[in-house]
Amino acid sequence: MKSIGVVGSGQMGSGIAQLAAVHGLHVWLLDADPDALSRASKSISTNIHRLISKGHLPQGVGTDALARLQCTSNLEDLRDVDIVIEAIVESEDVKKKLFLELDRITKRSAILASNTSSISITRLASATSRPSQVIGMHFFNPPPIMKLIEIVRGADTSDATFYTVKALAERFGKRVICSKDFAGFIVNRLLMPMINEAFYALYTGVATKEDIDTGMKLGTNHPMGPLELADFIGLDVCLSIMKVLHAGLGDTKYVPCPLLVQYVDSGRLGRKTGVGVYDYRKGSEPAKP
Ligand code: NAI
Repeated sequence: MKSIGVVGSGQMGSGIAQLAAVHGLHVWLLDADPDALSRASKSISTNIHRLISKGHLPQGVGTDALARLQCTSNLEDLRDVDIVIEAIVESEDVKKKLFLELDRITKRSAILASNTSSISITRLASATSRPSQVIGMHFFNPPPIMKLIEIVRGADTSDATFYTVKALAERFGKRVICSKDFAGFIVNRLLMPMINEAFYALYTGVATKEDIDTGMKLGTNHPMGPLELADFIGLDVCLSIMKVLHAGLGDTKYVPCPLLVQYVDSGRLGRKTGVGVYDYRKGSEPAKP
């Protein structure tokens, strides 16, 4: 595998592009929003220079990685890539439209992967004429640092596609786990109900946000509290995953907490907007345990 297209240059896409460039792939990073692309390009460059200055990356590898990265807003530029990893907004309709377009544009042998946190790979694959080459490649945030990739096989994903993507994940230095295509896969199936429950605890006045987070950090050895983690992931992403769990698994225990819904409605999306459960603009960040 020589080249990759990464669609969506937000938190996840920019990290995936960085990882791919550092591991020798030619990368096309695409976003519909030119401002998002220029932010991503700056942050990748800053991250790579930081890795070089700390001695974590040889100078030549870092410089070559930056030279292999190209940004674009034109999907046609992805026509020759070997694999596309999609990391756009967590909406089934928007992702399906993109997969339809990618199926038209990319070469027949290309694999189409999604970094979706929860949307059915089988349904995304149904928007294409190559369902055996569609797969979930679920990275964790931030992709260059987190050691795991959850690979999700849709109903029609072939063994050849699975083993190619597994080899790519291992080339990135990651451990792989494999999930069947059920709502939330493995990690979010367990994580999101915990985050949602933390919102319910806050909503019903069980405790302060600080005590909920400190309880889980010190009581269960989690590196971040659930509310702090929700801010890090993005409250909009958490809400959409809860909706997918509720719709896909049909149990009322997955109903999103009204407080989570209200925060998202009011634009409090977490770190990326400067305010979520915590207010990062005023420096009232979660306490270190
Ligand atoms: P984000 O909001 O930071 O970035 C999304 C980017 O996609 C934006 O720059 C936006 O301009 C672009 N975009 C939206 N629609 C587009 C389209 N049709 N064509 C091209 N670009 C488009 O979102 P984030 O957090 O990076 O999440 C992206 C995906 O990764 C979602 O599916 C999410 O569920 C998944 N994910 C998120 C994680 C997280 O911790 N935030 C962890 C693992 C997966």
